[in-house]
Amino acid sequence: MKKNILVVPGDGIGQEVTEVGKKVLDAIAKKFGHEFIYDEALIGHVAIEATGSPLPDETLVKMKASDAILFGAVGHPKYDNDPTAKVRPEQGLLKMRKELGLYANLRPIKLFDELLDASSIKPEILRGADILFFRELTGDIYFGEKGRKNDGNTAYDVAEYSRFEVERIARKAFDAARTRRKKLCSVDKANVIETSRLWREVIQKIALEYPDVEVEHQFVDATAMLLIKDPKRFDVVVTANLFGDILTDEASQIAGSMGMLASASIGDGTGVYEPIHGSAHDITGKGVANPLASILSAALLLDISFGLKKESEAVINAVDGVLKAGFRTRDIADANTPAASILGTNAIGEEVLKRI
Ligand code: IPM
Ligand code: MN
Repeated sequence: MKKNILVVPGDGIGQEVTEVGKKVLDAIAKKFGHEFIYDEALIGHVAIEATGSPLPDETLVKMKASDAILFGAVGHPKYDNDPTAKVRPEQGLLKMRKELGLYANLRPIKLFDELLDASSIKPEILRGADILFFRELTGDIYFGEKGRKNDGNTAYDVAEYSRFEVERIARKAFDAARTRRKKLCSVDKANVIETSRLWREVIQKIALEYPDVEVEHQFVDATAMLLIKDPKRFDVVVTANLFGDILTDEASQIAGSMGMLASASIGDGTGVYEPIHGSAHDITGKGVANPLASILSAALLLDISFGLKKESEAVINAVDGVLKAGFRTRDIADANTPAASILGTNAIGEEVLKRI
């Protein structure tokens, strides 16, 4: 198979981990006889520095022309404490999602058995947890009208959803539930919020098309609690943009570390594959970032955008092998990990490559 992959490392540790993710794709191409052609493009803070824009037109053109995108992270601490900044790295990410029509963000939460002790949640609560989040990604309060009034003393953000937007993410989630344990939990705040009431109405309607899938509706505050209390009760979870952002960071702790979680953003065109962690400027340049989320994002890319199941499994098995051999990055090490088994970004990447 011959495919064009655009590598968009972005900011901070995005650069370091994406480099490793790309090497893994390369190793897969060699082993399975594919030809992957790479190009690279700027986004986020590095793009602002180079061009003044967080998503330069050139990047967008390359994105639309590629078969899949391996993405790093965006963000820079310089903007975090400056609420008045007019241009921000995150605007690049949001514009990319909108422009590419990436309305479905898949965030699989699966704990490798070897990491049962890396989580701050008790192993007996976690063992066997396997959740697939569908976070709606191009609507909600993220993209509604926002602004100030009363001479700047009042601020507002409008949350908006259309029936069509809820229907298309719902179908994706129901389809996925069918291939898994056939349970779907839809999360909203329909006791208070109007967009949530539309959300629930639409999910109930679509559910009629999937009589084989067991549907549960939850309020988001209850979900936040149940994820920690009993993560095993969840199979597929579908929710709105903001709730999904928050719940998936919480759920990442089920998998031991943010450094382990991959995501796929899909929709109308090219798919984007990225770790759920951010740019982590506190550890940037130190060579200690965990590249496993980027590597697992590459696995999702192979599976979802290219339909290469065997290749995708080869990547996941290699990661599993590395963990079984006892190797860890700092974020997933515990008190019992021998110092010699704690590896940096490139060294753990090499261990994965060996096993492919
Ligand atoms: C994510 C991130 C982004 C989001 C930020 C960087 C804008 O937290 O991808 O989850 O809120 O969607
Ligand atoms: Mn987030």
